[in-house]
Amino acid sequence: MVDRSPFVVVANRLPVDEVTTDTPGGRVTGSGDSRRRWRRSPGGLVTALHPVLVERHGTWIGWSGSPGDAPDPFELDGINLRPVPLSEEDLERYYEGQSNATIWPLYHDNVEPPVFRRRWREAYRVVNRRYAEAAAEVAAEGATVWVQDYQLQLVPAMLRELRPDLKIGFFLHIPFPPIELFMQLPQRAEVLRGLLGADLVGFQQRLAAQNFIRLARHLLGTPYHGNVIEYEGRQVKADAFPISIDVGEMQRLADNPLVRERAVQIRAELGDPKTVILGVDRLDYTKGIEHRLKAYRELLAAGRLSVPESVMVQVATPSRERVEHYQALRIKVEREVGRINGDFGRVGVPAVHYLHQSYSRSELAALYCAADVMMVTPLRDGMNLVAKEYVAARLEHGGALVLSEFAGAAGELRQAFLCNPHDLDAVKDALMRAVTVDEHEARRRMSVMQRHLRRHDVARWASDFLTELGAIP
Ligand code: ADP
Ligand code: G6P
Repeated sequence: MVDRSPFVVVANRLPVDEVTTDTPGGRVTGSGDSRRRWRRSPGGLVTALHPVLVERHGTWIGWSGSPGDAPDPFELDGINLRPVPLSEEDLERYYEGQSNATIWPLYHDNVEPPVFRRRWREAYRVVNRRYAEAAAEVAAEGATVWVQDYQLQLVPAMLRELRPDLKIGFFLHIPFPPIELFMQLPQRAEVLRGLLGADLVGFQQRLAAQNFIRLARHLLGTPYHGNVIEYEGRQVKADAFPISIDVGEMQRLADNPLVRERAVQIRAELGDPKTVILGVDRLDYTKGIEHRLKAYRELLAAGRLSVPESVMVQVATPSRERVEHYQALRIKVEREVGRINGDFGRVGVPAVHYLHQSYSRSELAALYCAADVMMVTPLRDGMNLVAKEYVAARLEHGGALVLSEFAGAAGELRQAFLCNPHDLDAVKDALMRAVTVDEHEARRRMSVMQRHLRRHDVARWASDFLTELGAIP
């Protein structure tokens, strides 16, 4: 008999990384040949939920990150972890296919055309059921189950069917599309009914919650009043809960003398330019990386910026590398970087430093501290935590954030230099305003945004959601 939990989180991934033999540390699980070492992965979501999970003997259900058989359930830092197995075929169809080649582009304004495949849809259904069954098995009588993100939209309804006693919350970390786009999804009614299995459906923005409520009426004729939908004799609430970051963690890192020293060293390694312009993104076509590179190239060509006075650093974290859209993007971005460096770099002085790598939290914080201007130019983004991390890391430094109007974060970070990433001239102007802003004005803008973040960190996000769900008093 498994121990049952009164609080369960269900997400595609577990919040852990497997530690390989060349990295020291980590907690060992299993015995004999099956011994494996794990470490909690960095990230706001697990940090925010950690206290609740520990206090309530909670369980996190998710995939371990390796295909094939799942490791046995284990405990790490006070959290029970219940791995769900995903085979190579599940990864190809449910994760890379339906989640990341169909739903991801569709929910991000069709920035790339979504691909629709019947076998992916079926795999999505099968895998969602596996997660729902795991949750039904570990949840105690009357427990609260919080399901995360677009990979698991069918779980709430599947779980309700198995366990009508549970309180079920769902949070979508990415945008929710307008009706016209959602209607393209062949599985549309099934996905909508899946979400309506929850008691509370949370979105990043109010507009997304409204899209959802209107969609339910359009597709299923469900009546609603305010933000409450009447569905099959139950009430389903849809509301906005803009996610945030662990502000304290980022501020502590940015205040750490070693991180500060590293920031100075990074600037020196870059040739101590007057202006360091930074981009940090997963290498994803929603992030507008090419748009920002193009804006920078045109400013160099026009002589409004020059090398080596200014230098751009673009960190592009490897992501979903077997999905075609991502492979095509990598080629485009790398071609653009090559073009800019070919035209404007000099021996030993590239115009763009392009880094297709992952970094530790402290190295990221050092990069944020080293950057005079941060460019966050997504064509569509649920929130964008990088923008919030940059602001939190600046402490007394000033610095300027160029931010797309199409990032959820633009609803809160109003003192950023906002722009429409589709309008290249607007991106160029915003970048020039950020590069030339006077120090006093930069500090003023940064301190208003920091004040907002200090009041709205990820712990508050989690507690707002769980309070609304009635899970915490
Ligand atoms: P998304 O969720 O689409 O990836 P966000 O900006 O909301 O975009 O969140 C990205 C998270 O990943 C941030 O917390 C950021 O610090 C982290 N991250 C991005 N790039 C790297 C990298 N190269 N190394 C380590 N962490 C990264
Ligand atoms: C976005 C999604 C998350 C996802 C993350 C990384 O933030 O909202 O659900 O975990 O990207 O993507 P990956 O495909 O590597 O899990």
